[in-house]
Amino acid sequence: MVSVDRAGEVNEVRDIEATVAETEQYRERLDLLYKVGKKVGSVSEVAKLLDQILPMTQQTLKAEASSMLLIDREKNELYFRVAEGKAGSLLKRVRLSMDSGIAGWVARQGRPLLVNDVTRDTRFSRETDEVTGFTTRSVLAVPVVSGREVLGVLEVVNKTDGSMFNEQDLAVLMALASTAAIAISNARLHQEVLDGYKSTVKTLAAAIDAKDPYTCGHSQRVMEYTLLGASAMAFSQGELQALEFGGLLHDVGKIGVEDAILRKSGPLTPEEWPVMHTHPLIGANIIDEVPFLAAARDFILYHHERYDGTGYPEGLGGEDIPIGARLLAVADAFDTMTTDRSYRAARSTDKALNELERRAGIQFCPVAVEAFISAFRKQPGALLQSQPEA
Ligand SMILES: [Fe+2]
Repeated sequence: MVSVDRAGEVNEVRDIEATVAETEQYRERLDLLYKVGKKVGSVSEVAKLLDQILPMTQQTLKAEASSMLLIDREKNELYFRVAEGKAGSLLKRVRLSMDSGIAGWVARQGRPLLVNDVTRDTRFSRETDEVTGFTTRSVLAVPVVSGREVLGVLEVVNKTDGSMFNEQDLAVLMALASTAAIAISNARLHQEVLDGYKSTVKTLAAAIDAKDPYTCGHSQRVMEYTLLGASAMAFSQGELQALEFGGLLHDVGKIGVEDAILRKSGPLTPEEWPVMHTHPLIGANIIDEVPFLAAARDFILYHHERYDGTGYPEGLGGEDIPIGARLLAVADAFDTMTTDRSYRAARSTDKALNELERRAGIQFCPVAVEAFISAFRKQPGALLQSQPEA
């Protein structure tokens, strides 16, 4: 028989164990918030950030699944921006009405909801479980709010250790939701600024093309061809952005070339060629003044280099030429060959592609040629609408 004192000791040990477990849990949660806070500063792409936050949240809160839903105001729907857990990939195709379900309620009300037994809550909808085959037992859902606007809902589902979601879990999830809200609104602002930049760059590119009636739409098409080729290669999001700007602005330096040379209908003389050859350097110098175009600078500077080292302005060869510039050179040549010029008619697409292949390893980088041709053959129709009739 356990004496009163002995029982007291046992209780004390249990209390200490509980306190240790609680402290450990508390530490884990603080650690999660700290790590997420750090990531907001270091991960610039919101998708990547959310991809990292969710598994960490799920693990720390001991949940079976977690997801971030965003609101589509036009359709009055919620869609899964990121979803972790067994049914994650299936959920990415699901859209939910804002008028039903726990997530819909949280999004509409802008208030959190903790439901430890969904069978007892009339707001719960089986819609998602029916699609995924998952069984939701409990849900903790909080709104993702920026200013006064509800952007979406962050939720965790089912405790893995059989316990209940509690107020502490709620506090942690609320803190994460506000961090996510900051990241999402920053990304949206960033996108708006970027869109503004893009339209300015497009206007500038159109102005360059307008200097020569034969190059109408050339910059836009070169940009599209460059990105098409890039789709068959492994470029990061940032590099693709630089390629887009580089494609649009590759001939920006022609602003500094006199019209008599630029618009000349016949072939250039030996004295005129060196003047024409200054345009990549002039272009790079213009770009040097614009910080957000910095990554595109070398693509512009080297778009007339040749793989065999006989190009200009520096006579770089092979892999010394940045890969983006090698790809841009292919795109530029393809568009030049497939459009009418003052001195010759356009070639057919097939002839131009054959010509690229023939000059691979001499004028053009073989890797860039192969990437461009394979991507072009997969979706040739996608770009031809912006091409003038040949
Ligand atoms: Fe050029």
